[in-house]
Amino acid sequence: MAHSKLAEFGVKHIAKGIGRLTNEVLESGAGSYVTTTSGRRMLDFTCGIGVTNLGHCHPAVTKAVQHQATQLVHGQVNIAFHKPYLQLIESLLPMMPHKSLDTFFFWNSGSEAVEAAVKLARHATKKQNIIVMQGSYHGRTFATMNMTRSKTIYGEGFAPLMPGVFSVDFPYCAQCSIAKHSDFKYNYDNCCMDPVSKLELLLKRETSPSDTAAIFIEPVLGEGGYVPPPKAYLQKVREICDKNNILLVLDEVQSGFGRTGKYFATEHFDVRPDILVMAKGIANGFPLSGIVSRKELMDMQKTGSMGGTYGGNAISCAAGVAVAKAFQDEKVLENVNARGPELTGMLKECAKDPKTSKVIYDVRGLGLMLALECQPGQNYAARIQAKCLEKDMLILTTSIYDTIRFIPPLNISKEDMAKGIQIIKEAIDEVAGEGQRVY
Ligand SMILES: Cc1ncc(COP(=O)(O)O)c(C=O)c1O
Repeated sequence: MAHSKLAEFGVKHIAKGIGRLTNEVLESGAGSYVTTTSGRRMLDFTCGIGVTNLGHCHPAVTKAVQHQATQLVHGQVNIAFHKPYLQLIESLLPMMPHKSLDTFFFWNSGSEAVEAAVKLARHATKKQNIIVMQGSYHGRTFATMNMTRSKTIYGEGFAPLMPGVFSVDFPYCAQCSIAKHSDFKYNYDNCCMDPVSKLELLLKRETSPSDTAAIFIEPVLGEGGYVPPPKAYLQKVREICDKNNILLVLDEVQSGFGRTGKYFATEHFDVRPDILVMAKGIANGFPLSGIVSRKELMDMQKTGSMGGTYGGNAISCAAGVAVAKAFQDEKVLENVNARGPELTGMLKECAKDPKTSKVIYDVRGLGLMLALECQPGQNYAARIQAKCLEKDMLILTTSIYDTIRFIPPLNISKEDMAKGIQIIKEAIDEVAGEGQRVY
């Protein structure tokens, strides 16, 4: 098919329910760049929504996958062990945020792994209800659709969804009415603790601790706007879980594998999860997800009750082993912690600059999980995104608030980060210069 016809063909034959940032057709990717079939080379600050975190076609990952494809492609988990599955566990164990997390179950997608965590939590506690956070994103399957509370679009028209899910406020300081009305005396470093009170009320009014199996939290809200919670808040939730025999499930599908400058975001908060959910960055683009928990909880499951055809695929596991090694060999976390402040530095300057300050409402994030929340009402985030695209750079918006999330590769070079910063700055300047629009 002629290159010029590919996009048209896609629009005609691909489900309309899939939204997309651009109708460009990607042909290849290398490091921080993707190239389209029309030869356009674009700087990628999306990483396929936090997946190709070590850049596109990372050479060591590609080599491991090529080798594995000559050894064993599919070693189904209900038939036997396979080597990359075991090697992956060996590689992941030292990365775990707590030594109690020692027993794994691998799946394919993030949603499936979240569902595996629901199954484990319900089965282990013999309780049914699940609490999730307002603004959360846990996936699009029938269970996870009802656990996702970032936008109505994900569940609208698909009911009935999984019952037994309750939601409560996430500590989103930039949008917290108490913080706003106290001139931001309360903030990330000084939580008003209202979300804790709301959680305690929920447990008194709607779902009693004796019916509540687990609280699911993204330790940095992802799709909901890249919002880190105050440390004191998360620690208090841990206490509430301990007091009430409720499991704390941390969904690190997006925040895990170095995105925040530590292997797992929970390390910033010194909070031990009972179940940790992972996916995305674990295999740099090969479909793989998983949960890890305490052996005593995992061993309560009846043999045969868990499994699935492709879960823990051998090629994906081999990719995961190579990813874990690359983190060590290439000092990836050090790079994350060096590059992150370069981007936030520019954004904070824009927030102070009278020429651009009217665009910016909040700059936040950890490591390279960074957000720019724009002033409401002017569609600034989508306009900045469109300008970046014109300048051959991919960035993503997110959340019901007017927010851009930046997800550059974790091993991005200083030069490519400088280039990205320059493009984003130009886009902000241009949008700020356009004047008010009526929407
Ligand atoms: C925190 C979180 N949990 C779960 C999911 C669902 O993962 P998947 O799209 O692989 O099903 C996502 C996807 O973006 C996510 O960000």
